[in-house]
Amino acid sequence: MERFLPVLSSAKNVVVLTGAGISAESGIPTFRGTDGLWSKLKPEELANFDAFLRNPELVSEWYKHRREVTRVAKPNAAHTALVEMEKLFSHFTLVTQNIDNLHRRAGSQNVAELHGNIERNYCLGCGKRYDGEDFDRNNSFQCPECGGLIRPDIVWFGEMLPSDQWRTAEVASSEAEVMYVVGTSAVVYPAAELPMTVKSHGGMIVEVNIEETPLSEFADLSIQGSASEVMTEVVEKIKEYRRVAKESK
Ligand code: APR
Repeated sequence: MERFLPVLSSAKNVVVLTGAGISAESGIPTFRGTDGLWSKLKPEELANFDAFLRNPELVSEWYKHRREVTRVAKPNAAHTALVEMEKLFSHFTLVTQNIDNLHRRAGSQNVAELHGNIERNYCLGCGKRYDGEDFDRNNSFQCPECGGLIRPDIVWFGEMLPSDQWRTAEVASSEAEVMYVVGTSAVVYPAAELPMTVKSHGGMIVEVNIEETPLSEFADLSIQGSASEVMTEVVEKIKEYRRVAKESK
């Protein structure tokens, strides 16, 4: 990493793209891989609109369970490192595929949530929002206002991403000098497109993952290791590099 420190530390526009791997150390299961969620459950039975219309009770129960899991989880050192990193750069955008709300809970400010946020829900009938723990207390997926179905405000398979979040991610990627791709298998589109957007505009890709991914061969720097250890180290090394550069002036 040392030879990349001049670029990493002098970058003006930095983007971080995160996936489930950054929350794995908070105890939230990832999706793919040996003990991933999709190895136990079928996404087509739970994480799509038709499944919700077919069985709103089952799907609502599943997301209520996932909210309980995410609320018990705590942001880990990787989330904290990204909060620190945001303070180091004039233009910093955190783009996440995660719906677990951990980046916001950790204190990250400029967050684009490509796949929504599990703490947000809305009524299909009247659009009324039902967010946070109040929603789970009334334990119903029926809107008291209009009787419509209340669904999670997350992007299910086959659905469009929220256009404002996607636009933020695309613009930030087209201007990024550096993108850190942390804890994602980089196989789900359109999120997986973003590193290519960075590369095509002359930016640099730093991948952080415990194993190789389809992105690894395109990354300028691929660091194998846990997100918490590597991202903490990256932030420390950038701060150190800037300290030494300042002292030598
Ligand atoms: N540190 C870094 N990387 C890790 C760690 C860790 N501690 N633990 C796991 N990983 C890596 C895995 O090696 C894998 O590459 O995190 C990645 C998790 O990949 P997925 O489970 O596929 O999750 P993700 O890439 O976020 O999935 C994208 O797919 O199912 C949909 O909407 C869902 O947002 C999700 C999208």
